[in-house]
Formats: sequence, structure tokens, C-alpha cells
Amino acid sequence: MSVDKQDVLDEIEKIVATKLVLLAPVDKAWQPSDFLPDMSRESWIEDVTEFRKASLCLSDELLVSMVGSTITEEALPSYQTSLNRMGGLADKTGISSNPWAKWSRGWAAEENRHGDLLNRYMMLTGRVDMRAVEVTIHHLIRNGFDPQNDHDPYNGLIYTSFQERATRLSHAKCAQLARKAGESALGKICITIAGDEARHEEAYTSFMRRVFEVDPAGAILAMHRMFIRTIKMPAHLMSDPDGADDVFAMFSRVAQSLGIYTFSDYVDIMEHLVETWGVAHLKGLTGEAAQAQESICRMPAYYRRRIASIEAKQSAQPVGKYPWIYRR
Ligand SMILES: [Fe+2]
Ligand SMILES: [Fe+2]
Repeated sequence: MSVDKQDVLDEIEKIVATKLVLLAPVDKAWQPSDFLPDMSRESWIEDVTEFRKASLCLSDELLVSMVGSTITEEALPSYQTSLNRMGGLADKTGISSNPWAKWSRGWAAEENRHGDLLNRYMMLTGRVDMRAVEVTIHHLIRNGFDPQNDHDPYNGLIYTSFQERATRLSHAKCAQLARKAGESALGKICITIAGDEARHEEAYTSFMRRVFEVDPAGAILAMHRMFIRTIKMPAHLMSDPDGADDVFAMFSRVAQSLGIYTFSDYVDIMEHLVETWGVAHLKGLTGEAAQAQESICRMPAYYRRRIASIEAKQSAQPVGKYPWIYRR
């Protein structure tokens, strides 16, 4: 039975309306200043000195990884644009009051804090070449972002469900490493951001779950399409301040080597989504959709067998010098 896309979009809007509660009310929401020295205090010099001292235990690799996350978060303008480019789901006026419009602005407002907080943290530690970081952010926003979702809302919701989980895992891992190194302030920052990503993940996953309920064939074909294309990291078009190195490859290798985001995590997320949306148990699919269902169910095991060789290949590549920390 063919499903009318407008009906599905209406269903998505309905579920979005019920999930707006996943956005924190502004008067209860955390803000970057809650985690940083208060520059209006008499003791600001001592406070900042203490703050900087605490960051000395962070390794260059962890800093590079944190900078990569900061840059990723800072390219928010590209992501919000993309969110409103999914056919049928849009904030048409910029102040529209339909659920999706409210969601996309509320989501962006929460995400905006991530880049702000990480950026200020990096700046205050004095450990990072902030100009180099800013130039990379500038390049990344100019280079753009293509989640390869063809403006299709199903593809887009699969992408966002995947990516919110990926960022949740990577921020949580950074928190763990920061604490282990002895930097509890950074640990608190990263785990707080991971908490936001977890709420966003819950929302996008539930939006897509509704699509699976009302248009299972369309949903499964979209999932297959996105998995075959592979889910690209949002910041994969980042470029080096002077264009010399592939900084994204460098960032990925460092994240892989520290276990912050690995190919194994990628496969875990794939498997998680297959289970979450009950792909194996969808009934009544025929033709192309049935083939896609079978293919998706085989994918996690297929990729899992390749984890060791892919990760070994990645870690064998030279990492080079880190442009964001004075080419050390
Ligand atoms: Fe974020
Ligand atoms: Fe996010």
C-alpha cells in the first residue's frame, strides 16, 4: 500500500509536538558561564590561574580531540540550515509556530551552548592556538555540510538519530578521559554536553520510530540508502589553517587512537538503530523493501568483521603535527 508522504509529515509533526518537552526550559537550562571562571569577581586572576593549572594534565592528543569536537559544534549554522532543508519539515518564516519549527530553533539554541562552552574553555586554558582553531571553523562553515540526505526527511531523521548518538558517545568518552587525567572541570563540561546529546538522540530516534510505524517500506528504504552511503561525520569538510594537512583525517585518527570515536562505535550505533527500530521484526515488506530489510540486518555483522583491519589501517597512518596546538 502506498503511503501519502504528507500524512507521514503530519504524523512527524504530531510526534514532534509531544517531544518538545525534551528541550530544557530556558530558566532551568545550563549556560556556558556556569562552568567557567566568573570574570566579574575580584578574584578573577586567581580563578583563571587555577583554571589554567588544572588543564596542564591534558595530553596533546586529548586537546586535539577536544578541539576537533569544538570545531564540529561551532559549525552549527550549517546543521540548522540542513535541518530546515528536509522536504516538508521547515521553519518557513524563521519564527513559525509549527512543532518542527519550534523544535529546530530549540534544538539549535541548546546546541549553540556546546560550541560556546568548549571554545571558551579552550581559550581560557591557554593551551591551544585559538587563531588556528578559529580559521578552521571559518573554513568549515564556508566549505559547508552535506549529510547526503537529498532533502528527504526520512534520510535526515536517520542521519540525526545516528549523529546525536555518535556525539553523545564521543563527549561522554572525552569526559571520562578528562577525569582520568585529573581535569574534573573539563569532565563536567563534556558530560553535561553529552546529556544534551542524549535528549536530542531520544527525540530524533522517536521521530523516526513514528515513520517506521506509518511507512515501514519508505523508512527501511531510507535507512538502507543512508547506511550504504555511510554516515559522514558532520565536520568532515574541515580544512587546515594553511591548507597543508587533512585535519579531519588527523582528528579522526586521534579520536580513534584514544577510543573517543572509533569504527567500532560506528558499527555499534548501526546495530543499535537496527534494534531500536525493530528492523528485523517489520512484517509484510515486499520487493525492494524486503531486500533492504534483509541487507540492513546483515550489515552490522558484516562491518564488525572488518573492524580490526579498518582500525589497524587507520592507526598505521602517520598523524603529523597538530596545527591547533602550535604544530607540536
Ligand atoms: Fe552538540
Ligand atoms: Fe547534538
